[in-house]
Amino acid sequence: MAENFEPHHILVTGAAGFIGSNFAHYVAREHPEVHVTVLDKLTYAGNIHNLDGIPEGQMDFVHGDICDAELLDRIVPGCDAIVHYAAESHNDNSIADPEPFVQTNVVGTFRLLEAARKYDVRYHHISTDEVYGDLALDDPERFHEGSPYKPSSPYSSSKAASDHLVRAWARTYGLRATISNCSNNYGPYQHVEKFIPRQITNVLCGIRPKLYGDGKNVRDWIHTEDHSSAVWTILTKGEIGETYLIGADGEKSNIDVLRLILAHMGKAADDFDWVRDRPGHDRRYAIDSTKLRTELGWAPKHTDFESGLDATIAWYRENEDWWRPVKEATEAKYAKQGQ
Ligand code: NAD
Ligand code: DAU
Repeated sequence: MAENFEPHHILVTGAAGFIGSNFAHYVAREHPEVHVTVLDKLTYAGNIHNLDGIPEGQMDFVHGDICDAELLDRIVPGCDAIVHYAAESHNDNSIADPEPFVQTNVVGTFRLLEAARKYDVRYHHISTDEVYGDLALDDPERFHEGSPYKPSSPYSSSKAASDHLVRAWARTYGLRATISNCSNNYGPYQHVEKFIPRQITNVLCGIRPKLYGDGKNVRDWIHTEDHSSAVWTILTKGEIGETYLIGADGEKSNIDVLRLILAHMGKAADDFDWVRDRPGHDRRYAIDSTKLRTELGWAPKHTDFESGLDATIAWYRENEDWWRPVKEATEAKYAKQGQ
């Protein structure tokens, strides 16, 4: 049976990043009675301006590390729920240097679980479909809650490890925890290292977009606002101890997404470079979100990918001040990797 939970004060980790900041805006807009405390280390991926516009009375910001147990002792007791987004999130970075991924994604999750246990706080864990490895392009199956864990990269294996910690804390200590595994997000505030913003900002800078391998890899795209509404639904209605997969039936090959970006930005279909493939590159992700839809009544709103992509292109056009300062360094890092 699903339970109803009414949070009053949520600790949202990693909310200066892409998906966490979208969630903080979502809560401030849709549930203004709920207070959000943001805990974020402000790594290269965090930007405090992602939270601009959230009224002061509804949010406070703590600059710090989820691995810092003393800091957690100070801020967790005042909260009735933790929604844990903070992570090292980029596969290519994890291949170049896996250590911070183990530290933040595994040790950091362990510290939060210990704090949630100590202060008996409801805990929701944000994870990824990548923990299930990949599917062949012609596989009729999609990932579901019973799919075996088979992560491929240092990033996805660190996320898989953190999921296992959450399950163990729920079963052994009775922690009131839920987990969600979501597919690829797109929308505003996504770092320019990621596929869609990288290509949009490349076009805006006069750089040719870069496609890995044969471009046939498939990702299952979901607008980040739909991810936020799904997380809110699971936090407030989900069954303790359960996992829910989040997806919006948005499977697309990388080359198709790139061709849409090029077409929507007035470029020719072949105006891009093929570059070195990612080592261990997962072929296809695909989510079956039947459980979330039927048991908790969730449905995505942004079902037209092309209009969501158009709005995202417009956001990057209008917010050059936001991405320009990090663009050059990001491309320099890729250039060193031959990508
Ligand atoms: P992001 O890289 O944009 O943001 C991560 C945020 O976490 C940043 O603000 C960063 O400063 C913060 N952070 C990193 N290490 C920290 C630490 N030790 N202590 C405190 N804060 C720290 O990531 P994202 O793309 O928004 O992903 C957020 C979460 O969603 C991650 O857990 C990721 O695994 C998961 N997820 C992402 C996607 C996707 O498509 N991007 C899909 C499914 C799940
Ligand atoms: O599936 C959920 C995951 O989606 C999240 O857990 C990760 O945090 C998030 O980063 C994302 O992982 P991917 O590796 O799928 O996303 P990325 O944006 O890095 O790449 C998407 C696809 O595009 C992938 O097949 C690699 C390809 N790609 C990427 C870049 C940056 C290119 O072809 N060219 C590029 O320049």
